[in-house]
Amino acid sequence: MIEDRAPIRVALLGCGTVGTEVLRLLRAQPEEFAARTGAPVEVTGVAVRRPHKHPGVPEELLTTDAEALVDGDVDVVVELIGGLEPTRSLLLRALRGGKSVVTANKALLAEHGSELYEAADAHGADIYFEASVAGAIPLLRPLRESLAGDRIDRVMGIVNGTTNYILSAMDATGASYAETLEEAGQLGYAEADPTADVDGFDAAAKAAILASLAFHTRVSASDVHREGISEVRPGDIAAARSLDRTVKLLAICERVVGADGTESVSARVHPAMIPRSHPLAGVGDAFNAVFVEAESAGELMFYGRGAGGGPTASAVLGDLVAVARNLVVRGKGPRESAHAQLPVQPVGRTPTRYHISLDVEDKPGVLSQVAATFNERSVSISVVRQAGRGAEASLVVVTHVAEDAELSSTVDKIAQLPVVREVVSVMRVEGEPL
Ligand SMILES: NC(=O)c1ccc[n+]([C@@H]2O[C@H](COP(=O)([O-])OP(=O)(O)OC[C@H]3O[C@@H](n4cnc5c(N)ncnc54)[C@H](OP(=O)(O)O)[C@@H]3O)[C@@H](O)[C@H]2O)c1
Repeated sequence: MIEDRAPIRVALLGCGTVGTEVLRLLRAQPEEFAARTGAPVEVTGVAVRRPHKHPGVPEELLTTDAEALVDGDVDVVVELIGGLEPTRSLLLRALRGGKSVVTANKALLAEHGSELYEAADAHGADIYFEASVAGAIPLLRPLRESLAGDRIDRVMGIVNGTTNYILSAMDATGASYAETLEEAGQLGYAEADPTADVDGFDAAAKAAILASLAFHTRVSASDVHREGISEVRPGDIAAARSLDRTVKLLAICERVVGADGTESVSARVHPAMIPRSHPLAGVGDAFNAVFVEAESAGELMFYGRGAGGGPTASAVLGDLVAVARNLVVRGKGPRESAHAQLPVQPVGRTPTRYHISLDVEDKPGVLSQVAATFNERSVSISVVRQAGRGAEASLVVVTHVAEDAELSSTVDKIAQLPVVREVVSVMRVEGEPL
């Protein structure tokens, strides 16, 4: 009988947006969880900062002493506090005590993942973190397990709901970034301090986790090139539209194969123009989606809700059931592998394409001078469009693929041409060539 088995004892650290939902679901259907895991699942305590703010949690479970809870008689620690400390210390403590961990904390994993994975490995414990990237979307388990026999070449995704909401709204209404950010705040899509989202920190942490799993290489947040969306103007969105494209903030993790066959990893977060026909272009509102290209599987797309109490709790509970099942059979989940240890490339060495919009003098020879500057640097041009007259004269150039540093220095050179009044915008282009 399942109910006669020793229970799986769970310590819950944090009871905010996600923790509240995890606790509610666990307490609402204990028989279901017991049946799914093969043993009763029992929450032994809930650590919070301010117990008086949690009238819905039984008093005997609440504690402010997370350390004592972790050190107590528990099998699994579910961490839903967030941030780097005290979470790092608490989770190391748990793992070193042989206790398995479930966490949704992308910032911690992107910064201290190696230390945590090594501690789990050394002490025979599991560490699961499905909820840390793209909330409810089953993505890390497919990368870690289902695609473990394949070779992943590229993972490209929309992994931040706030920025996707803002860019989608800018595309739909033509409004400015500042106006749309304010509206996103009023609707609850942006936090009071939106820096982590709009400056790309959140997406960069997720890119580090995705790149590490996809390429069996340790990639940390500081390895990820990061640009946010605050510089995206309605003019960029309109320019993208005129090329039948839209602007998205993308996390791109790819395997780069050099001319001599050597491999490296590129991980970056930046806004980019993608074709409206690309599966990621239709991902609107605050939804997340990740597009994976693997050698044998081909193209795969994962789509769903990337945040919120319920969706994130779904991923946390999926992990908890997996960890509990491992404990019931005295087994262990897959360990993190970093055996490939590919070097991580700086963005300058990464092949990209640029869309460049210029205000130019309205006189003959402008186009040839600009084209000659590209030529000198062996950057080839895919599309050129001239428009307007007099003070309105403009030129749009879309390049073919070249190293990012080469493209960037070409733009600097073009900015110095006397016929160029202003470099109005520069944005990378992803997806099918134009
Ligand atoms: N919210 C989402 O949609 C979402 C989506 C994906 C991943 N995540 C990740 O999930 C984690 C939790 O996010 P959340 O939105 O649920 O956070 P939250 O609403 O801010 O809740 C944090 C909880 O941690 C508690 N806490 C803070 N410091 C503590 C300490 N030193 N000791 C014990 N408890 C402490 C807080 O206690 P008090 O309530 O008493 O203040 C609160 O209950 C984060 O890592 C986040 O990145 C969240």
